[in-house]
Amino acid sequence: MKSEALVLGIETSCDETAIGIVRGRTLLANVIASSVDEHARFGGVVPEVASRAHLEAIIPALDRAIKEAKISFTDLDALAVTAGPGLIGALLVGTSSATGLALASGKPIYAVNHLAAHVSVDALTHEAPLRPTIALLVSGGHSSLLRINDITANIEKLGQTLDDAAGEAFDKIARLLELGFPGGPAIDVLAKSGNKDAIDFPRGLTHAKDSEKHLFDFSFSGLKTAVARYIEATPAAKKSDVAASFQEAVVDVLISKALLACTQSGIDSLVIAGGVAANSRLREVAAERAAKSGVELRIPAPLLCTDNGAMVAALGSLMVSAGASASPIDFSADSAMSVLEVAR
Ligand code: KG4
Ligand code: ZN
Repeated sequence: MKSEALVLGIETSCDETAIGIVRGRTLLANVIASSVDEHARFGGVVPEVASRAHLEAIIPALDRAIKEAKISFTDLDALAVTAGPGLIGALLVGTSSATGLALASGKPIYAVNHLAAHVSVDALTHEAPLRPTIALLVSGGHSSLLRINDITANIEKLGQTLDDAAGEAFDKIARLLELGFPGGPAIDVLAKSGNKDAIDFPRGLTHAKDSEKHLFDFSFSGLKTAVARYIEATPAAKKSDVAASFQEAVVDVLISKALLACTQSGIDSLVIAGGVAANSRLREVAAERAAKSGVELRIPAPLLCTDNGAMVAALGSLMVSAGASASPIDFSADSAMSVLEVAR
């Protein structure tokens, strides 16, 4: 099997029109056109607006990526595209474009899972292939703890959020604090000037009574309510203290459960992926506690944590080198694609 496949990845599941090109495990181009500014005034991503923005951005983004990588389209060995999960109208722009390119060029296409792609981007940062690992996947739409036996073929789910995703919690609290959208990066910055121990916010599903049924599940709705009540009852509270204390509660739960999953499953490797993995406090706490627990920690560079096309290309490349078969050309996009389905 070819180990240095040249793969172009297309990502349009949410508000980023993103094209990445990799050769094997080497990143050649990572073009990201975001429509986030068009959604900001609505306080969240508007699906119709996102689809239209993808349509406008995708061809220019493809052109830019090919130029940036200094390759020609005919050099590519394979195409990869996010088939789900995500906003269906947004996904369809990427999958239709990718299918058209595959049909016209005769190149194989890998219709991959956005969540598995978030984890796969590790391949672009680390030389050594992933051993069986625990993965903490924390994005705007999903939060789960996974056991990755083989990122191209075998993923097990250990737990997930019962309500909001971690990123969604950041976005909602940012709205309460009037910090704009998306809220994660704004809270990250504001928290730096706040006191993380100022307010003792609840850590969801961490009580002894939760350990039987929800040891590896998350819940952020109680935390959200607690923060909302606190803000209402304490109008003079420093926003930076609220942001730092909220962030600490989220990070504490995420890292505690991820490391517990490592200990319990006897796996001494942890990957943290998805937009929230860009959070500076999460990266700091993860590094400290993983070192204490003797767990090897891998977190992609911040720009590769949030949505991008490089992660899709990376998963495509790993599939080519694993000898996985390509997807049928008539594959369908799936807004609710399960994290257990790596590709279609
Ligand atoms: O993975 P992603 O780019 O898109 C999805 O697949 O959902 O994740 C986006 C989420 C948003 O909720 C955003 O607020 C959050 O990741 N995020 C952060 C940071 N950067 C992005 N959350 C906390 N701290 C950050 N620095
Ligand atoms: Zn994502």
